Formats: sequence, structure tokens, C-alpha cells
Amino acid sequence: MKECRGRNLFFSTDLDKEIEEADVIFISVNTPTKTKGIGAGSAANIKNCELCARHIAKVATSSKIVVEKSTVPVRTAEAINRILTANEKQPNVTFQVLSNPEFLAEGTAMSDLMKPDRVLIGGSQTPEGLKAIETVVSVYANWVPREQILTTNLWSSELSKLVANAFLAQRVSSINSISALCEVTGADVTEISRAVGMDDRIGKRFLQPSVGFGGSCFQKDILNLVYLCETYGLQPCADYWRQVIAMNDFQKKRFSEEIVSAMFNTVTGKKIAILGYAFKKDTGDVRETPSMFIVRDLLEENAKIHVYDPQVTREDMWSEMSYTCGVNHDNTPKLDEYVTTCDDPYEACKGAHAVCIMTEWDEFKTYDYKKIYDNMQKPAFLFDGRLLLNHKELRDIGFEVHAIGKPDPIKFPGSAIA
Ligand code: UDX
Repeated sequence: MKECRGRNLFFSTDLDKEIEEADVIFISVNTPTKTKGIGAGSAANIKNCELCARHIAKVATSSKIVVEKSTVPVRTAEAINRILTANEKQPNVTFQVLSNPEFLAEGTAMSDLMKPDRVLIGGSQTPEGLKAIETVVSVYANWVPREQILTTNLWSSELSKLVANAFLAQRVSSINSISALCEVTGADVTEISRAVGMDDRIGKRFLQPSVGFGGSCFQKDILNLVYLCETYGLQPCADYWRQVIAMNDFQKKRFSEEIVSAMFNTVTGKKIAILGYAFKKDTGDVRETPSMFIVRDLLEENAKIHVYDPQVTREDMWSEMSYTCGVNHDNTPKLDEYVTTCDDPYEACKGAHAVCIMTEWDEFKTYDYKKIYDNMQKPAFLFDGRLLLNHKELRDIGFEVHAIGKPDPIKFPGSAIA
């Protein structure tokens, strides 16, 4: 950013001037799940996109290419197009609406941007639409090989984004469903993941079992897809995709239930260390983070929770907890007494009955677990929600380890190298 700023990257708050001067305008606003009204809880609210379109139409004195960058329900471009055309200032001004969904992931955003698997650009298959597509293709072609720039019709592009996220989330839910089966049969989910992923047709990636997926996209986009299916009367398709979320909810719940049941069916008053609050490593983002749901469940059991995360701020933690779980300082007066945030992982674990690994931060692998163990209550429990640590080493230290999809060596002797 520093390198480009002032050269060909400029920031401005003069909206009208920038709209007037632009040839291509990317709408990159958020489209959250509706919380009220028709489709509440699943439909995406495209209010912000509509407001952008109305403003562009009001201000523009020359023709523009308007690109949907935000993730939107299929056929949003139709609405944007109608709003633009109905509100255009001058009759000679025309608009071409394109769809160019964003596929980059958090924590790897810059490398995803520089080396994308593909860039998708959808537009109307008319001469004007194809010309607009070519204009945006030529921008990306500055650093992305042409064969990786896909062009489609508008609706395929809009829908592809939802489908890509739904497929990715589905893989995580699929392997997580198997992790539950592994725990009761003595199979090892890591071995299954490897065995299955080596089939080229299936592929290795996104088969890492976890306490559940989080983030601002997966759940929101699947709900968006579910709502679309329902709107078009395709209830079996809606039910099919909703199950990906149901499995994710099951996985999170299962993890908190395992903590309570392993710790003699009570965590009341017990100190529990939560290592990791972000929804994945290398980001401070906490939206829909599985860690939050575990903290909420443990809070209901009156545990004393100590959270350590290298990047998450206490403020972000509470605002997401309030927004998504409805738990805040107003309705839960003793929140600060029950949940402590720590700057030091060893402090978080000191005197704890249990340590829970909730995010796959690399630094968690480097800790001195002997030191952590020595300072804990006994038996010292460790719940690995990311399969991050070496469980044999932890057991040799003395920990009682519970890990997603891993057989308990006492219940299933011979299931792992002793
Ligand atoms: C996702 C998509 O990957 C990206 O293309 C899209 O643009 C935005 O949504 P993001 O949410 O940033 O990106 O992260 P991602 O790496 O996809 O992980 C999502 C969640 O799934 C995380 O909580 C992660 O921990 C979890 N996950 C991922 C697993 O539990 N197992 C896996 O194998 C992969």
C-alpha cells in the first residue's frame, strides 16, 4: 500500500468527484445477513449496494462500468441495473453492470490477490456488455495470466461466489462429521483425511478437522444460498445446504459438551484457558469465530475463562459476542468477573484446570507445555480443537488430552503409537 499510495492508489472522501471522474466503479460494501423482516436470518441485505447505485446514478454525467465486488444474491445485478437506469441524470449516460466476486481469504489476502487461482468477471452477453467485460479483464491482465481470467454471464458469476464458499464449507463440515465418528470407533481423522485427500478427484485441501468453521463468509453465504433455493421453491436444495451449517453447529456444541463431560460434568468456578479467539490464524477477525461459541457455553456453566489471542482485541471480542450471541455487559453483569483477557499465554494457563486450543496459531506449537503443566491444577486437561499439538508428547508430560477426531488411547489401545 505504501509503495503504491500517491502513485496509482489514492484515498478520498470526495465521493461525488470520484464518481464523476471514474470510468469503472467497484461497489465493495458489506451485505450482511438480514436480522429483521422477510428472510431474516438467511437472506442477504443488499441495501448498501442499492444506495451506491442510487448515488452513482444521481452524480454520474458520463457512462460508467459498475462492478459488483460485494458478495450478493444471484440476480442482484438486475436490480442494480434497473436502479441505475431509472435514476440516470442524463439520457446519454449509460451503465454496464458487471460481477467480479472476491475470492481472497483472510490472513493470505495479499498473496491471494497477487496470485489468484482465478479471476471471475461476469457481464451481459451483449456487444456493450462484452466490451465492458474486456475493459475490466485488461485491468487484471496486468498481473494475472489471461487463461486464469474467466468471463461468464452475470448470473453465473454472482452465483459462483456463493457456490465456491458453500463447497469449501461443505468439505469442512464433511470431515468434521467424520471426526465425531472417529472418536467413537477408534479411527483417526487425520489418517482418514490423508487417505481420502490423496485421491486426486477429492484433493487434499480443506479437509482439516476443526472445532468448526467461522469467519464472515461461510455461514453468511450458505444462508444466502439457502434463501435463494427457498425463494425459487427448491426446498430439498435449501435443506441440503442448511445441513452444512447444522453440522458446524453440532461440531461446536460437541466440543463444549466434551469439555464439561471430561471434567467430571462440572466446570463451575474452574479456571479454563482459551488459547486463540480469532476464527483462523494470522488474523484478528472474530466474526462467527468458533472460540466465541465455546466461551459462551462455558460461561453458561459458570466457568472462569481466561482468553489469550495474539491479535484479537478485547473490544472486538465483546462486540462480536454481543452481536452474534446476544451476550453483553448490560444483560450479563458479571461478565468481567467470569471472562479475563490475558496478554501472556502462560498467565492465562496458570492455575487452570484445562487449556483449550481454539485457533491454529503457529506460536502455540512453540510453548513450553511442561511449564504450563507444572503450573496447572491436576488432572490437567488439554482440549485440542485444531489438532495442532503433539498429543503423545503432551500425554508423556502428564496432560489428559482430548482432541477432535482422535481416538482416546486408553479406550482404544493400539490405535496410536504408544
Ligand atoms: C473464505 C474463502 O476461502 C474465500 O475464498 C472467500 O473469499 C472468503 O471466505 P476466509 O473466511 O477468510 O475465506 O477463510 P478460510 O481459509 O476459507 O477459512 C474459513 C474457516 O474454515 C476458518 O474458521 C478455518 O479455520 C476453517 N477451516 C478451513 C477448517 O476448519 N478446516 C479446513 O480444512 C479449512
